[in-house]
Amino acid sequence: MTREIRLTPSILNADFTRLDEEIQKISGVSDLLHLDVMDNIFVPNFTFDFQAAEKIISKCPLPVDAHLMVASVDSVAISYAEAGCASVTIHVEACSDIRQTLQGIRKCGARAAIAVKPNTLITEYSEFFDLIDMVLIMTVEPGFGGQKFMTEMMEKVSKARSLIGSRDIWLQVDGGISLETIEIARDAGADTFVAGSAVFNSPDPAGMINSLRSKALSQ
Ligand code: DX5
Ligand code: ZN
Repeated sequence: MTREIRLTPSILNADFTRLDEEIQKISGVSDLLHLDVMDNIFVPNFTFDFQAAEKIISKCPLPVDAHLMVASVDSVAISYAEAGCASVTIHVEACSDIRQTLQGIRKCGARAAIAVKPNTLITEYSEFFDLIDMVLIMTVEPGFGGQKFMTEMMEKVSKARSLIGSRDIWLQVDGGISLETIEIARDAGADTFVAGSAVFNSPDPAGMINSLRSKALSQ
């Protein structure tokens, strides 16, 4: 069976001083823009506050896939959905009422997604699969770009694939995705790929996305 795949580049490793230009480079070849939001509490790094993120979202030529790595994410998630994100991902570890938050995101017309850190089991969250449009399995510890892909997460990706069953839920991987690792993640069941440093450390970001897509589609 050929699965539809998506490339969702992360701007975490892009040049933040000229973000519009950086986004332009990849907008013709990407499916969504992956926006990493970090608060320096849930993860030891900070990216944008909501005001800055809102500006990026409103100007972005691509649909925005917000990955919220923030503590007390319940109300923050709704603000990102209201701000026009196409997809809003909450970490289960940071959410106090997962059901209500997912329903709130969907009510705003955005796709709702849950993410799990490497030490969090996806099987404990299967009750939410009827309320989500995407699952994100972290393949690095969240917080920084440029880390090594954790091959040992592939068992969890396969587990998530079987929990999805026939539901229309995207299965995203995030962390260390490159030309060397994308097929490993695809073979485990992933269909939606975040790539940060592989794309923005490349002299040709759009070309890199095309190459990653070809790899993910190759047999
Ligand atoms: C890490 C972020 C990722 C990061 C991926 O916490 O969620 O989206 O940008 O970067 P690479 O592809 O360099 O691992
Ligand atoms: Zn991310």
